[in-house]
Amino acid sequence: MNRILVLYDSKTGNTAKMARLVAEGAAAISDTEVRLRSVAEAKPEDVAWCDGLAVGSPTNMGVLSWRMKQFWDDPMLEQWMKVDGKIACAFSSAGAWGGGMELACQSILTILINFGFLVFGLTDYAGKLTTAHYGAVTAREPREPDAQAACRLLGKRLAEWTAVYMHGRSDEHPARKTAERKGPG
Ligand SMILES: Cc1cc2nc3c(=O)[nH]c(=O)nc-3n(C[C@H](O)[C@H](O)[C@H](O)COP(=O)(O)O)c2cc1C
Repeated sequence: MNRILVLYDSKTGNTAKMARLVAEGAAAISDTEVRLRSVAEAKPEDVAWCDGLAVGSPTNMGVLSWRMKQFWDDPMLEQWMKVDGKIACAFSSAGAWGGGMELACQSILTILINFGFLVFGLTDYAGKLTTAHYGAVTAREPREPDAQAACRLLGKRLAEWTAVYMHGRSDEHPARKTAERKGPG
């Protein structure tokens, strides 16, 4: 069973909405169990349980929220050197475009790298003008279909990578699926 944790902080509900979409995307991959946990309810055991982790935070002063930072500084510290090699990605909601949501994703990825997670971004486009190269990002709630699609795509890709790298399910490799969709020639 593929195990995905979507861990998020959200003060006014926007990142929580993104988290639900990321979880939905992950659940689209067969044989995948998804846990959705706010940072207030999450336990280090949830991180230990998962194969893949998506971490979301509101953009606060261009970085992750203090609540999310505290989770990694404090309860998670005991897990340092015990969670290496799991796969992870980031998402963030800011007040407005240009507000630093990609910087916030980078700050989340920096923490995850420090813990030994293998982190990734998306090269795919979720819409004509929307991608998630450094993680899924939105201004406020994910209202537009493309912003919602980016969240779902991030979760789906996370579950695909864990299926491939943690469970040897090479049929789930995104490049292979694309090649199969295109067919021979
Ligand atoms: C302390 C604090 C700092 C913030 N800093 C930024 C910021 O640097 N850039 C920005 O665009 N929005 C900033 N915001 C706005 C939030 O990122 C934005 O409202 C976001 O959608 C909130 O997500 P949430 O509903 O999940 O809490 C800040 C909000 C707070 C409370």
